[in-house]
Amino acid sequence: ELINWCVEDTRKGGFAHYMLKEIYEQPQSFYETIRAGIDEHVRQMVMEADEITLVACGTSYHTALAFKYLAEPLCNIPVRVEMGSEFKYFTPPLRGLAIAVSQSGETADTIAALKMAKARNCPTLAITNMQGSTVTRVADETLLMRAGPEIGVAATKSYTAQLAALMEIVNLRCEGAFDDVLSHAHLAIGDVLLQDINEAVALCSKAEHVFFVGRGAFYPVSMEGALKMKEISYVHAEGYAAGELKHGPFALLTPETPVVAVCTPGPTYGVMASNIKEMKARKAPVIALGVAGDTELAEIVDIFIPIPNTHLLVQVLTASVVLQLLAYHTACALQRDVDKPRNLAKSVTVE
Ligand code: G6P
Repeated sequence: ELINWCVEDTRKGGFAHYMLKEIYEQPQSFYETIRAGIDEHVRQMVMEADEITLVACGTSYHTALAFKYLAEPLCNIPVRVEMGSEFKYFTPPLRGLAIAVSQSGETADTIAALKMAKARNCPTLAITNMQGSTVTRVADETLLMRAGPEIGVAATKSYTAQLAALMEIVNLRCEGAFDDVLSHAHLAIGDVLLQDINEAVALCSKAEHVFFVGRGAFYPVSMEGALKMKEISYVHAEGYAAGELKHGPFALLTPETPVVAVCTPGPTYGVMASNIKEMKARKAPVIALGVAGDTELAEIVDIFIPIPNTHLLVQVLTASVVLQLLAYHTACALQRDVDKPRNLAKSVTVE
């Protein structure tokens, strides 16, 4: 099946930046990717795997890591995630299905890693936005995401479309348990696009350093939030697993160093809340993303940003979108060149 992209999709369509347009396109690109489903060959490959290794770079590495945190507990399958750039020189012993995750399908490090997995006789799958790209030609099978053309250098809608494709794999391994959750997730993504985050933007645009923290699947979400922040606003940001802050970064916390914490109901809620209190005790302003109506959390933090009280899979998406908006508006407040950040390229085809 051929996917047609029209010229209109490559224009800004009234938005100040491509990045903002692409952030706003996410309900649609997520929904389209879910609707496209998984073809029979890929299904079979996924169902036969008793272990999965993902290779990726940059933002795609973060979606791969989010997959690990979702797939291991939800479908009880061992998942390993490797950076393309490391994998080539430090190739781990490989078993099972290898998946390359790449928006462009042209990232040299990811392609090199994919080739090595293939040379070791692993069945290989490419998850990409680019039909006919190099990864699709190297991998045995392809799962295409339907993000449409992404022009902004910082990945946004391709990130959530990758999550759509990866969540579909989770759903497949769980025998369709999340059919309903995934087919409605775009509505929650649409809701958070309207969230007021002005206070948080004001805080971040004055800061020299911002920490992003979360646990479980919100750890890669935090890493991605930090990556977006540094990429386009040039504010130094670090994504951390919340429990690790006390092993070093606490030394950097001051009243001028905001911490963005994702804290939603679940097994780590209590321990996250105590981490937040520890940060407050070091006088760091805390911006918390929590579920709507969580007054207990709202009371202990400086700025509370509600996300819809939905399934974990959807919270991963909505929290990510809020963090994209935070990076975007911070970059705008600092008058950065949002769509073309300095020293970065949309696709890195050299090692
Ligand atoms: C570049 C881009 C990033 C992207 C990374 C991986 O560094 O600036 O936004 O995440 O490459 O790209 P890929 O196309 O493989 O997902």
